[in-house]
Amino acid sequence: MKQNIIILGTQWGDEGKGKIVDYLTDRVRAVVRFQGGHNAGHTLVIGGEKTVLHLVPSGVLHDGVSCYIGNGVVLSLDALRTEVDQLEEAGVPALDRLFISESCPLILPTHIALDQARERDKGGEAIGTTGRGIGPAYEDKVARRAVHFGDLNDREYAEARLRSLIEWHNFLLVERHGQDAVDADEIVEGQFALFERFAAQCTDVARELNALRLAGERVLFEGAQGTLLDVDHGTYPFVTSSNTTAGGVGSGCGVGPRHIDYVLGIVKAYTTRVGAGPFPTELFDNVGVRLAERGHEFGATTGRARRCGWFDVVFMRQVIALNSIDGLVMTKLDVLDGLDELKVCVAYEDSNGKEVDWPPGTQQAFQACKPIYETLPGWDADTVGVTNWDDLPDNARAYVERLRELLGVSIDIVSTGPERTANIILNDPLG
Ligand code: IMP
Repeated sequence: MKQNIIILGTQWGDEGKGKIVDYLTDRVRAVVRFQGGHNAGHTLVIGGEKTVLHLVPSGVLHDGVSCYIGNGVVLSLDALRTEVDQLEEAGVPALDRLFISESCPLILPTHIALDQARERDKGGEAIGTTGRGIGPAYEDKVARRAVHFGDLNDREYAEARLRSLIEWHNFLLVERHGQDAVDADEIVEGQFALFERFAAQCTDVARELNALRLAGERVLFEGAQGTLLDVDHGTYPFVTSSNTTAGGVGSGCGVGPRHIDYVLGIVKAYTTRVGAGPFPTELFDNVGVRLAERGHEFGATTGRARRCGWFDVVFMRQVIALNSIDGLVMTKLDVLDGLDELKVCVAYEDSNGKEVDWPPGTQQAFQACKPIYETLPGWDADTVGVTNWDDLPDNARAYVERLRELLGVSIDIVSTGPERTANIILNDPLG
């Protein structure tokens, strides 16, 4: 049996991971977040009801499924409270299903203030972050200044570390960004008060995941953001501050590489990105506007409009290799309905006029790349909610088949709408 399965985004995030995790969750025992924080926005639509999750794993709506937040996640207790409150108000017993690593670095209100102050001061050079404090929290993690969730169990130790961290943040806020200092007492007391609510969730996630493996249980590892936002392999510096690639699972929750059985990549049938940075196939015409409108391409976390463009096979070749992807789920095929023709980027022309089939390693070179397209015919029919491969228009099938051929990897599922059931299953990724 395929026991440990990674699901991750293969583009710049927003590929529709939440829906697929939720769809597969009936057949798993646990869902694990291993990186990122509440910058993510996973939208689930069940029976017409929309739920947006930012921090809590997408399995939380299912009875009998444990949801783990691994050590690789940066944890805002404030954001957690808001999300758990919303879930509980909707009748979901979130806390009964949620377990949090004692080693999660905390996101404090000062991380959020620093993130926003920096973006403001950068002006036109801004990254376009979600302003949730993610980058500053990861900086403190690698600088060994962070306070871990489990530290809050020890009042004296945690208070000293919190005060020292806030003092550093105040120095930056006042001296670097010309802002007022924040009240350390208020933050310290706030963190301990929040911890009281979530103390029972604090656990050793790596040990629990190991126990699940030994018991033969199936676990989904739910990536947030997408591969091109990976801090090492993405379009640096226009990236998030965590490892969004499959390698992030090992460091982000303590599962060894040989215990991963399948890597499922989620890819949109076209491309979108939020925030700044290179995007070779970006569309600035009416087709781009049409994709944004039909695909409801507005950020689930910030509400920002997403940039839209054609499917890019060039970076996908690299993404498939980086993550050792076994199979893909292609989402939002229905958004392409009604277009006369579709373009697929099969190579780039680099700044020297040379044709390349793999993205260049540096930001400047990537920025200079121009797409080389292959054109395919579009289709007129409505594919929303189609669940049968044979019910797709011929040209829609031809589009998916051409992409499978170019990418050289199985397309396991084609998703045709936001509803949980709007899927064409070609190959069951769980085996
Ligand atoms: P940060 O993660 O808030 O630091 O933002 C860094 C970059 O990642 C920005 O371009 C954000 O728009 C992008 N980003 C962060 N989270 C998401 C997400 O869940 N979907 C899409 N883009 C994201």
